[in-house]
Amino acid sequence: KTNQQWGGRFSEATDAFVARFTASVEFDRRLYRQDIQGSIAHARMLAKVGVLSEAERDDIIRGLSEIRMEIERGEFTWSVELEDVHMNIEAALTQKIGITGKKLHTGRSRNDQVATDIRLYLRDETDLVLQEITRLQQGLLDLAEREADTIMPGFTHLQTAQPVTFGHHLLAWFEMLSRDYERFVDCRKRINVMPLGAAALAGTTYPIDRFYTAELLNFSQPAGNSLDAVSDRDFAIEFCAASSLLLMHMTRMAEELILWTSAQFNFINLPDRFCTGSSIMPQKKNPDVPELVRGKSGRVFGHLMALLTLMKSQPLAYNKDNQEDKEPLFDTVDTVQGCLRAFADMIPALEARKPVMREAALRGFSTATDLADYLVRKGVAFRDAHEIVGLSVAYGIQSGQDLGEMSLDELRQFSDVIEADVAEVLTLEGSVAARDHIGGTAPNQVRAAVQRGRDALLIR
Ligand code: ARG
Repeated sequence: KTNQQWGGRFSEATDAFVARFTASVEFDRRLYRQDIQGSIAHARMLAKVGVLSEAERDDIIRGLSEIRMEIERGEFTWSVELEDVHMNIEAALTQKIGITGKKLHTGRSRNDQVATDIRLYLRDETDLVLQEITRLQQGLLDLAEREADTIMPGFTHLQTAQPVTFGHHLLAWFEMLSRDYERFVDCRKRINVMPLGAAALAGTTYPIDRFYTAELLNFSQPAGNSLDAVSDRDFAIEFCAASSLLLMHMTRMAEELILWTSAQFNFINLPDRFCTGSSIMPQKKNPDVPELVRGKSGRVFGHLMALLTLMKSQPLAYNKDNQEDKEPLFDTVDTVQGCLRAFADMIPALEARKPVMREAALRGFSTATDLADYLVRKGVAFRDAHEIVGLSVAYGIQSGQDLGEMSLDELRQFSDVIEADVAEVLTLEGSVAARDHIGGTAPNQVRAAVQRGRDALLIR
């Protein structure tokens, strides 16, 4: 027996392995809701332009709604012989309502149907991603506000550089996520265009009203070219690109969280509920969540490459290659949403070990630049100031003390412009408070940035 939906011109049944090899229902059944939503809109449009009667439209809508409920109750039998989600649902509809079911596919092809389903799906998933980014950002703002005055060492090359506030560090993450958010918003505009009506590739001879269908499905507009509409998956690639950048940012956060929970840094504590232990080493508490986020990024970068390669050199219009778009896309959606959820839950719960951070900032000559700036204010040229402070640091290394621990006389060996007022400059609080401009690390500025961040989230 040949496939009932396209068997007409065939004289033998599909090879059993080929049937399984070409089938996608195992994974594209995930699109059942969008498939039914799109079919209902298509049927309404066909009735509006007089291709279907109102009674036929109503039968189709009722049948499809029942099928949706059967799927959701787990009562629907999916069949690999019926290849994909589209033909499974259409066959079930015909079984349910008879000949009218066979009219649903009038003026439509699986090519515009599947492209529409994926766009409907990805539009909803993008909205969830946007919500979760916002939730994570809210958590960062709350934490940054709590930690606006907490001092830690800032690093370059992972070597102690200058003191910063922990709140400021967290707000760096916030900024990365703001750009990621914008990328998804922008990507959504190009997802939200409707392929339906393109039919197989050239459009259709029926008097369809694509603006009406687009309105029913909340698309911003029908796609402008039927060949392009059924064939390109750039919107999915773009989603994976935005996801890759987001996960790249999240791996940077993950890496720091992992470092900071180590005994060597000991800057933060992650609550036990986000960690796991070791089956052999009783003392262990491992930061699995950030480690997994760091690891899972590999999948998403891989999926981006897979989709780019899938699309590369495809001649117009639809090619079966595109059936391979779904698994990478679905896994990207699951991975991104999972990582966001884990971080949005975990990050607001992390505890900063303020004394440890402060102690670390006191080591490593983190206020050396402040001393150089102090000398400049006393009239020394910056390059000379740099040299003077370098010599003081070398003395400190040899005598085992940080700049703030040296007596005034010791400091004055290197420059006689140094006076008692240097003490304030060499304190951690003085150092961070002095960087008091927009984008700087001063606690005031952190609080102002938190306020700006709150305002930005409010108008989303
Ligand atoms: N399962 C197919 C896909 O995912 C649906 C479109 C198939 N169209 C076709 N002419 N074979 O792309």
